[in-house]
Amino acid sequence: MAAGEKMPGQKKRKREYIAGLAQLNFTIEFDWSKEEAKAMYDTAVPKVEKDTILYEDCIAGMNKMPEESVDLIIADPPFGIEFSGKGSQYNRKPDLVEEGYVEIGEEYSTFTEKWVKCLSRIMKPAASAYLLSGWTNLNDLLNAIKQTNLILVNHIIWKYQFGVFTKRKFVSSHYHVLFLVKNENDYFFNKCEQYAEDVWIIPRNYMPGQKKNGTKLPEDLIIKCINFSSRPGDIIFDPFMGNATTAVCAKGLYRHYHGFELNEKMKGIHEENLGSVKAGAFYKPLKEYLPSVEELVEKYPHLKKLVQKGATNTKKDATALDSFLQK
Ligand SMILES: C[S@@+](CC[C@H](N)C(=O)[O-])C[C@H]1O[C@@H](n2cnc3c(N)ncnc32)[C@H](O)[C@@H]1O
Repeated sequence: MAAGEKMPGQKKRKREYIAGLAQLNFTIEFDWSKEEAKAMYDTAVPKVEKDTILYEDCIAGMNKMPEESVDLIIADPPFGIEFSGKGSQYNRKPDLVEEGYVEIGEEYSTFTEKWVKCLSRIMKPAASAYLLSGWTNLNDLLNAIKQTNLILVNHIIWKYQFGVFTKRKFVSSHYHVLFLVKNENDYFFNKCEQYAEDVWIIPRNYMPGQKKNGTKLPEDLIIKCINFSSRPGDIIFDPFMGNATTAVCAKGLYRHYHGFELNEKMKGIHEENLGSVKAGAFYKPLKEYLPSVEELVEKYPHLKKLVQKGATNTKKDATALDSFLQK
């Protein structure tokens, strides 16, 4: 088929395609000023004890939680291999890795089935869950999900660089993020990027000199899950807190957190990490994550004429647009 020819059954576009126009016109359905977000955070009355990490097994812990009590789950379980995160292949100084990362003492599939089974009961009807897995454990996680009433909405690939080097195989440089809901017809999803793809390119943070357990997720990954799938004041639940990255991001974004960690030695790091972040510290209205009118016009110069003619939806960023037009 020659370029430009139509596929059989392909509909003719009603309007001419203009690169960048959809981004310029894009608006976010739910957005809150910093004051509004703070008020929602201050007045929230969750069913679970807010802003709490309990040092116990998450399976026993989840079974004690009230039903329909959390708005969003972010779960990054242990890998199921003898992982201490101290190996020189990971470019880490062993004395900066906290002891006692707790691995599981049973078949990985059994452990996975047990904790995944607990999720649906504690999720509110419109709640979502993001479950993380490396490819070696993916089968167990997918099998466990099949045994629940949770619906797999997206299978996201997180592309990152882990710093390992291989000679006789490809370097593993991705992770799986399974996006699940209870009710596929009614779950909270605030599309805050115009073209939200299921491949996320997010580098791991390198924090030289900072003490942590060996498996910290990047804040940007958690912030993305929180921004798309929760409102200020919501309860973000993490059954495997690790370094408390989920809790730190929740607090910084005017959300409340609740979760478990088996390794009590992490308590000091949790207090330090959470103590150094004020509630709302990195909150900003979602439209501020979007490219500005100036950035879009720089990338797509043909948009300038349309902007000047007022042919676009100015609701997105009226102030920025006005100042741009006056230049
Ligand atoms: C992959 S790490 C989580 C890392 C975390 N997402 C972060 O960014 O720091 C998994 C954590 O689960 C903890 N863990 C293992 N089994 C557990 C269980 N049954 N209940 C609660 N925590 C557990 C481990 O000690 C470890 O800290």
